[in-house]
Amino acid sequence: MDLRKRARKRLPNFAFEYLDGGAGGADNGIARNWGAFDAIEMIPRYGKVITPPPTDCTLFGKAYSAPVGVSPIGGPSTAFPGAERYLAAAAQTARIPYTLGVLSAITIEEAAKIAPDVLWLQLYRFAKNEHKIGMDLVKRAAAAGVNALVLTWDTPVRTTRPREVKSGIMNPFRLNNRLRLDAISSPPWLLSMMKNGIPKFVSLRPYMDGNASLAEAAAFMRREQGGAFTWDEIARYRDAWNGPLVIKGVLHPADADRAVSLGIDGLMITNHGGRQIDALPASIDALPAIAQQVDGRVTIIVDSGVRSGIDVARCLALGADAAFAGKAFLWSLGALGERGPAHMIDLLKDELSSTLGQLGCATIDELRKVKVRHPGAYTLADFVREM
Ligand SMILES: Cc1cc2nc3c(=O)[nH]c(=O)nc-3n(C[C@H](O)[C@H](O)[C@H](O)COP(=O)(O)O)c2cc1C
Repeated sequence: MDLRKRARKRLPNFAFEYLDGGAGGADNGIARNWGAFDAIEMIPRYGKVITPPPTDCTLFGKAYSAPVGVSPIGGPSTAFPGAERYLAAAAQTARIPYTLGVLSAITIEEAAKIAPDVLWLQLYRFAKNEHKIGMDLVKRAAAAGVNALVLTWDTPVRTTRPREVKSGIMNPFRLNNRLRLDAISSPPWLLSMMKNGIPKFVSLRPYMDGNASLAEAAAFMRREQGGAFTWDEIARYRDAWNGPLVIKGVLHPADADRAVSLGIDGLMITNHGGRQIDALPASIDALPAIAQQVDGRVTIIVDSGVRSGIDVARCLALGADAAFAGKAFLWSLGALGERGPAHMIDLLKDELSSTLGQLGCATIDELRKVKVRHPGAYTLADFVREM
């Protein structure tokens, strides 16, 4: 959270408000995510010698150095220019998953060069013309060697984030003097923009005018993209993509069950970091019922509110295979610039290892045996009438 404070001081107001703001005006969903993690207690066991435990793990048959990853972020270069490159490079060096958002300022192909071993790709729903754009993105992902495909499900309609609107950056985006002044007030942001160029959604360039301004790109997105993938569409992407397929945005055990029956490989339990609607449960509170329903058939990843290695340990103790973060990585960029993501990864890994040690676990698998008190947890019994 110190990185968050520092990022707020160093970034232009619009950049911080874009990366940090939630849905609903009071950021209740974000506070709920954090509060839910903070309320979870784990009981340590003593009596054996513990050397600093390793954090290595395997996800979808691939070895990573920790069950920690970068969640997909659309337009992260608005928050900090060059974000995609810096995040991808740090993830590759540390060998943790980096999920490129489809709305990004580098192409899938460039990301695959920077992070060949750890690149995952997130897609939104581009349903026009029989998913022409979506299916082309799947082909490009396969050709580039992307390691997992993530379909975002939890954006059925657009949302308004009051802090973004008040900062002047959204609805609609127009580069006006207020934003220019705001940018000039932040040398780190400005210098990084001079180094990396004005951010554009270049991953979508084959499908729109190569010189599209940000405003035109936003209009393109409004026209071409939207809605949540239907069950039939998920089945279609399953057929089209041979690698690991992850559905992002699952909060109901019955949805998790049905997605698993379609042959997907992973579920991301998330409330989009509190950015879509303020009334959703914290994703960590939704985890136990889903983990029980899925019963080890697919890989479970949790995000939304993860700020520390202790939070990662809480996710694993409650049945997840990995925990990802969005805002924490953007805060690290805002606070420390290019070297922020590597610092954030080190923090998460070191804290995870020391939490394992403190709890008396010699490996991450032993976290599953830890006695946990989780006051906000949904249980399967809460869903009994709907299953
Ligand atoms: C600035 C920003 C942009 C995001 N854009 C996307 C996106 O394009 N696609 C997506 O699936 N999720 C997006 N997310 C949500 C993240 O993938 C992730 O679910 C969320 O950040 C997790 O919560 P946390 O920020 O508390 O870690 C975005 C999050 C942020 C902060």
